[in-house]
Amino acid sequence: PLNFAVFGHPIAHSLSPQIHQAFARQFGIELQYRAIDAAPGEFADAVRRFFRDEDSRGANFTLPHKSAAFALADECTQAATRAGTANVITHLANGRLSAHNTDGAALVRDLTDRHDLDLRGHDALLLGAGGAARAAAWSLFDAGVQSLTIVNRSPEAADAIADAIGEPSRVHTRYWEDLANIGSFDLIVNATSAGTLGQSLSLPFSLLGSRATCYDLGYGKSAFGFVAWARAAGARYAYDGLGMLVEQAADAFELWHGKRPDTEPVYQSLRVQAS
Ligand code: ATR
Repeated sequence: PLNFAVFGHPIAHSLSPQIHQAFARQFGIELQYRAIDAAPGEFADAVRRFFRDEDSRGANFTLPHKSAAFALADECTQAATRAGTANVITHLANGRLSAHNTDGAALVRDLTDRHDLDLRGHDALLLGAGGAARAAAWSLFDAGVQSLTIVNRSPEAADAIADAIGEPSRVHTRYWEDLANIGSFDLIVNATSAGTLGQSLSLPFSLLGSRATCYDLGYGKSAFGFVAWARAAGARYAYDGLGMLVEQAADAFELWHGKRPDTEPVYQSLRVQAS
């Protein structure tokens, strides 16, 4: 069978092998999908070793490897370039490695298709300005949010995203220290890695508009803090990023197999497993 893998560090709890095998079963495809733990110092060698086998057709990348995956590829899509990170590498027929980022599109699809949100009427607040936030910012912008306010602990990184998008009438930044004074939003997306690092964010309840949706790009334990804050603050909806995880995997699967999997049953079974 063809080989696929997800590279991370740590990687033991990755759901990607399970998700890709579930998609493959929908089409009767047989594949091998491994979880490979690679420390940052061995990452590039591990990826090259994996792709030396011509049956190795693609790989996914998770923490902390998304920037290194982007840097290592021979070519890249616009989505990967905009994010400066890659969650997918495809092994092309000519041997080259092509980097792609499906995270932003996955976020938007989860919000609009699974959770029925019409983003066009939304004033969105994006917390964070790392790789995950860059992917989210471009996709929220492309999806037509009315306004996008980016706030990051280090303001330069937020400014860099807003400058890159270059639509000052719709996309702007504020200071983290001013969070209590910047008004309220209809959509608040947590793209910081605080939850993953076991740190808590101290956010004012005043950020929530009356019908606000809150979304954490992480899932499982790393999203608990933000989702609990959102519920306590009275959010209309508070979601973690489990749906986004399944959607980004579906995009990778389609890229590699040319077939679009049905994400809903896979999402539902992971949701049950998580509770
Ligand atoms: P990722 O790939 O998850 O985006 P990253 O590129 O390292 O990871 O970005 C992490 C983001 O989380 C950054 O925006 C970081 O803020 P700084 O740029 O100021 O470092 C943000 N972040 C991490 N821990 C945080 C915390 N405790 N409070 C606020 N922001 C935090």
